[in-house]
Amino acid sequence: MSQTHEIEQAVAALRRGALIALPTETVYGLGADASNELAVRRIFAAKGRPSSHPLIVHVADLAAARTWSTGLGPVGERLAAAFWPGPLTLIVRRSARASDAVTGGQDTVGLRVPSHPLALALLRAFDGGIAAPSANRFGRVSPTTAQHVRDELGDEIDVLLDGGPCSVGVESTIVDVSSGVPRLLRPGGLALEQLESTLGQAVVHAEQATDVRAPGMLESHYAPRAGVRLVSAAELPALATGDVVVLARDSVAVPAGVRRLGVPDDDAGFARVLYARLREADLLAGQILVVPPEESGLGRAVTDRLRRAAAPRARKPDGAF
Ligand code: TXA
Ligand code: MG
Repeated sequence: MSQTHEIEQAVAALRRGALIALPTETVYGLGADASNELAVRRIFAAKGRPSSHPLIVHVADLAAARTWSTGLGPVGERLAAAFWPGPLTLIVRRSARASDAVTGGQDTVGLRVPSHPLALALLRAFDGGIAAPSANRFGRVSPTTAQHVRDELGDEIDVLLDGGPCSVGVESTIVDVSSGVPRLLRPGGLALEQLESTLGQAVVHAEQATDVRAPGMLESHYAPRAGVRLVSAAELPALATGDVVVLARDSVAVPAGVRRLGVPDDDAGFARVLYARLREADLLAGQILVVPPEESGLGRAVTDRLRRAAAPRARKPDGAF
């Protein structure tokens, strides 16, 4: 099928209120027409996600973004101009266009212009907003290939656009600019250092915020089935025994005979392979030992996701997560 035809099919699916999967440079999204409340509710049902957790509206450009907001404000405008299209989500004051179904009833909305060419082509052809969380079941690892989406949510989706493996590999950086003072809600594919140098000011990390509306801010999230434990390279010889697999950069020495999955030495490379490796590791062993990167650049997002994957999990009565 030609790409134009695929996009036409995806647009038709969006217009009839169905769910689609779309590639973005960060992770694959589970998309619906953001203006169709019924379609938006289908997203929550498919993911098993609580309806109070708001969705990001994806748009084709800054002009489209402005129609979903009463105003991005000077900080929002500056960040949008610098980093869109790209792995940045701005939380801004919503306009009447953003329904409660999308925002979870909050007076703000999350907006993003993704840079993946297929996502942009789709957004231009659709000429509307696409509400899209990551295309995984609630609490699980985000998908970075079309096959991950097929495995996990294949039955829920009318059209799956395959844009190849995601180039960034972790979700967008979320910055709340709705109060005029930028607050980092989620470290992600755009490095904090880049945000700060563009703004010429420090961006406060809102991790300790008490109002936890963002699932990415829940303690246990991004979790494979296997246990995840963060360790230092020095601890590996003592801990890497039994039913374990090691995830560490290729330059880290791993004891002989212990299974390991390769990870590039640079932060961007770690981010790009992170979720695929967690899925692979999950099939290999009951416990995943991970040597996390330094917490700078994209290493901050990688370590954030690993901590959440390692956090104690609330088990349902049937033993499932
Ligand atoms: O890279 C990404 O951001 C991917 C791709 C598909 O764009 N999407 C993604 O969506 O990660 P999701 O739903 O898995 O995570 C979006 C986060 C959630 O934690 C959500 O609660 C938060 O954004 N969010 C959305 N709107 C918000 C708002 N108005 N205020 C605070 N947080 C918001
Ligand atoms: Mg998600």
